[in-house]
Amino acid sequence: MQKLEELYAGKAKSVYRTEDSRFLVIEFRNDTSAFDGVKKAKLDRKGEVNNKFNAFIMRRLAEQGVPVHFVELKSATESIVKSLNMIPVECVVRNVAAGSLCKRLGIQEGLELNPPTFELFLKNDDLHDPMINEYHALSFGWATAEQLAKMESLTFQVNAILKKMFADAGMTLVDYKLEFGEFEGEVVLGDEFSPDGCRIWDAATGEKMDKDRFRQDLGNVIEYYQEVGMRLGVDFN
Ligand code: TMP
Ligand code: ASP
Repeated sequence: MQKLEELYAGKAKSVYRTEDSRFLVIEFRNDTSAFDGVKKAKLDRKGEVNNKFNAFIMRRLAEQGVPVHFVELKSATESIVKSLNMIPVECVVRNVAAGSLCKRLGIQEGLELNPPTFELFLKNDDLHDPMINEYHALSFGWATAEQLAKMESLTFQVNAILKKMFADAGMTLVDYKLEFGEFEGEVVLGDEFSPDGCRIWDAATGEKMDKDRFRQDLGNVIEYYQEVGMRLGVDFN
C-alpha cells in the first residue's frame, strides 16, 4: 500500500492517506510531549520503538478477539491501519493509583484499586483533556450510548489480557488510556498502545518504566521503553 499525502500531524504521530480510502499509514515520529504539549523533546529511536511495541500489543489483542485498527507493519516507523471515524473520548483504566487520580482525590500513589476504575476524558489539548462522564458524551454528541458501552467492555477486555501479560513479564500495568473509532459500523481500538500512554512499574522494585520517565526527568526514557518491550517479547530488530 502506497503512502500518499499527509492528512494530519499529531504530537507524536503523522497520518497519511493511501490509494485505498479504507486504510491509512501512521508514522511514529521521534517527537514526544507531555502535559498536553507543554513539554516537548525529540528522543532518538522513539518512533521505531513505539511502532514495533504497538504492533506487538495490537497483534496480541487481535488474537484474543479485540477488534483493532492495526493491519501490518509497513516499515520500522510506519504501520498500515484501518481508517477509523475517531470518537473524541479517551478511556482510562487504573489498576493502581497514580498520576491525576492521586492529585484529584488526594489518594496515595501505589494504592491497589479493586475493582479497577474506569474514567472518560475529552480529547482536547486546549482544554487539557478534561474528565467527563457518560452524560456529557451523550448530551454533546461525542459518542452514542452503544459506543460508550462497547468502549467500556473492550477497555476491560484489554485490561484482562494486558494485566496478565505484563505481570507474567515481571511488570505492573498501573494504568492506560485507549482511544476508539468506528470502522464499517464496528467500534475498533485505534491510536496506539505503547509506554507513551500507560504506566508500567517493575513489579519487584516499583521502578517507573513508562512516559513518567520523561514527564519527571528520570532519564533513559527509550532504554526503558525498549526494556519493557523486550521483557514482553517484542522483536526490535
Ligand atoms: P492521568 O493519570 O494523567 O489521568 O493518566 C492516566 C493514564 O492515561 C496514564 O497512563 C497516561 C494516560 N493518558 C494519556 O496517555 N493521554 C491522555 O490524554 C490522558 C488523559 C491519559
Ligand atoms: N499525551 C499528552 C501530551 O502529549 C499528555 C501527557 O502525556 O502528559 O501532552
